[in-house]
Amino acid sequence: MEIIKVKDYDEMSEKACSYIVEKIKELQEPVLGLATGSTPEGLYDRLIQQNKEQNVSFKNVSTFNLDEYVGLGNDDPNSYHYYMNEKLFKHIDIDKNNVNLPNGVAKDLDKECQDYEKKIIDAKKVDVQVLGIGINGHIGFNEPGTAFTSRTHVVDLDESTREANARFFASLEEVPKKAITMGIDSIMQSKEILLLVSGSSKSEALDRLLNGEVSEEFPASILQKHSNVMIIADEAALNG
Ligand code: GLP
Repeated sequence: MEIIKVKDYDEMSEKACSYIVEKIKELQEPVLGLATGSTPEGLYDRLIQQNKEQNVSFKNVSTFNLDEYVGLGNDDPNSYHYYMNEKLFKHIDIDKNNVNLPNGVAKDLDKECQDYEKKIIDAKKVDVQVLGIGINGHIGFNEPGTAFTSRTHVVDLDESTREANARFFASLEEVPKKAITMGIDSIMQSKEILLLVSGSSKSEALDRLLNGEVSEEFPASILQKHSNVMIIADEAALNG
């Protein structure tokens, strides 16, 4: 794992943006894996800027998001469909047909998971998967205890995850109890992983990811086994 140490959130976002822009320019049909949450917002702002300044086009880019809440439709302001549209897709020249997120309101959720997994396989793998990390070590919505062999699946969200994400909702009760997420193995199939970590609240998780044992009890620890991981972490996350 390569670690890039940066001063703060802005520098993390800046470095991540340069990295993704270079990838888009280098590859003919780039496939990006995208994350939600607070961490990648600065990256998305900068990608929009780069697109506006015509430094990069997303015309040939395909995207796969990691996860979606079960029960929230595309128009729900708390759905990840809505988040991605507001924070990135509607501002750039991406072809909406190339945008993929799991459908959290699918009638048959298991079939939705299988179909999503097949789409990723058909796309011949994600070139760069952007990841954040949960305080409990989750990646995507793969909570502690998730099998390392898991592919896209439905999960029961941990109470700690619901509490951490309650800040986006009117109340804790409104935070869904289930989500669809790419599995650990689906994430590990990505050719490269770009993990972004900012803030002292993530320092314990980052330390455990870097120095702890590889265990399903701490999902992000599996990244130690991936051959191409770049971590961009700021001082607060590195020093606590
Ligand atoms: C969320 C998402 C993850 C994200 C993580 C950290 O619940 N499902 O994909 O990486 O938790 O979120 P944040 O960046 O807001 O700290």
